Amino acid sequence: MSLIDTARAARDNAYARYSKFRVGAALRTSSGAVFAGCNVENAAYPEGTCAEAGAIAAMVLAGERDIAELVVIADSVAPVPPCGGCRQKIAEFAKPDVTVTMLGCEGAQVHMSVADLLPGAFRAGHLGGG
Ligand code: THU
Repeated sequence: MSLIDTARAARDNAYARYSKFRVGAALRTSSGAVFAGCNVENAAYPEGTCAEAGAIAAMVLAGERDIAELVVIADSVAPVPPCGGCRQKIAEFAKPDVTVTMLGCEGAQVHMSVADLLPGAFRAGHLGGG
């Protein structure tokens, strides 16, 4: 299955009871493994989690840490960009030149690098005290 189809299938399982805005994400690591996630909302709204966060958690659980490619798809015609928090989560595990593909539900695609999604990202190196 392609990464796009994997993201689409993840979106089908989204728990978007409150926003009705289903999101699916799929990523491929440098080893070739694929992980997917969907948004999981909660009656306590801030406790909901994004699709990207789910895919990243699955990747880390499996012992992988290097995102090579990531796809996000929602229900909207316009491709949906990752939220600010997800940009930071993606930047933790993806090099600046990694491509994030945003898909619209009717096929529109936008491609952006991690560096363009989060310029000046706060990274592990900033914790060095230097
Ligand atoms: N959402 C994601 O899953 N990923 C994003 O990057 C943007 C927003 C979800 C969170 C919430 O469940 C719904 O979309 C509406 O904000």
